[in-house]
Amino acid sequence: MAPVPISSIKVGHIDDVQELRKIRPKTIPERFVRDMSERPTPAITLSPPSSDMPVIDFSKLTKGNTEQIQTETLKLADACESWGFFQVLNHEVDLTLMEIMEKSSREFFMLPLEEKQKYQMAPGTVQGYGQAFVFSEDQKLDWCNMFALGIEPQFIRNPNLWPKKPATFSETVEVYSREMRKVCQNLLKYIGLGLGLEGDVFEKMFGVAVQAIRMNYYPPCSRPDLVLGLSPHSDGSALTVLQQAKGSPVGLQILKDQTWLPLQLIPNALLINIGDTIEVLTNGKYKSVEHRAVAHKDKDRLSIVTFYAPSYEVELSPMQEFVDEKNTCKYRRYNHGEYSKHYVTNKLQGKKTLDFAKI
Ligand code: OGA
Ligand code: NI
Repeated sequence: MAPVPISSIKVGHIDDVQELRKIRPKTIPERFVRDMSERPTPAITLSPPSSDMPVIDFSKLTKGNTEQIQTETLKLADACESWGFFQVLNHEVDLTLMEIMEKSSREFFMLPLEEKQKYQMAPGTVQGYGQAFVFSEDQKLDWCNMFALGIEPQFIRNPNLWPKKPATFSETVEVYSREMRKVCQNLLKYIGLGLGLEGDVFEKMFGVAVQAIRMNYYPPCSRPDLVLGLSPHSDGSALTVLQQAKGSPVGLQILKDQTWLPLQLIPNALLINIGDTIEVLTNGKYKSVEHRAVAHKDKDRLSIVTFYAPSYEVELSPMQEFVDEKNTCKYRRYNHGEYSKHYVTNKLQGKKTLDFAKI
């Protein structure tokens, strides 16, 4: 591995956090230092992480008797409405596959910078290696390296960005993504039923769903109190599935009751969250909850995130079932492809992106 020659580095000008970590600068470069109001407060970061986030037993939905299915569907509906985030156990995804996916992602991030830069994200795009959502020189950077790929439909793929190293990486992403697609489709079925709709309502509406994967690697940071791992945002998807690598410290926080709540994740569980699409379709009954990630002083953290969304040509608006005299229509009708474009051409800024659709 060819190390980056230190003499050629002006610390303030490196924006690859893994490279920064290697040279361990005495101070955190300005580009990563957040304004006071954005910094993670130690009180929150040190408070015991939430343990009462809902946990759904997937096998009760897919293999349970009528009563178990009903009970678990209600639990799921309640989780979507009161949390927007929940964990899924017994999700039927092979644990070995999850482990291999973790290992491959980690191997990718550990490659020399020059190797990863072969898959560099081009300006104005969101696939490849690099930091998405950065549009100006004075925008703060996240303490995170990302690698993202479009998965389905096939036409969104850019074959040049699929890594040749590690050797089995691309094949693993392929197999893993097929499994994640099943999880999303199954969950959407029960989310539909829990809303009193037909089980196939979202599947029919979404057409050939758009699926993408993003691996987020957060190196340790000597001053986690000054930086953010990932800026606050809501997801532009319908559903998001997150796998956190084994041994990762607590890092993800959700904004609940106006407070940042750190999430303690159960090993081998999948973390699911409601994205902007479902918020719009349910006219805000289910919310796409704002979240962010913080860095850790000594430990790195890796997450593998699947985004599942409608086909680009789909027109979205609140479903009539959720609009009445009491609940006026909160979102206009819009084209999902246009929303996706809007999402990826703006910086992550809490729930601001969804203003696009607000009436
Ligand atoms: C995301 C996300 C959180 C994490 O990728 O959209 O919210 O913990 N990730 O990596
Ligand atoms: Ni997110």
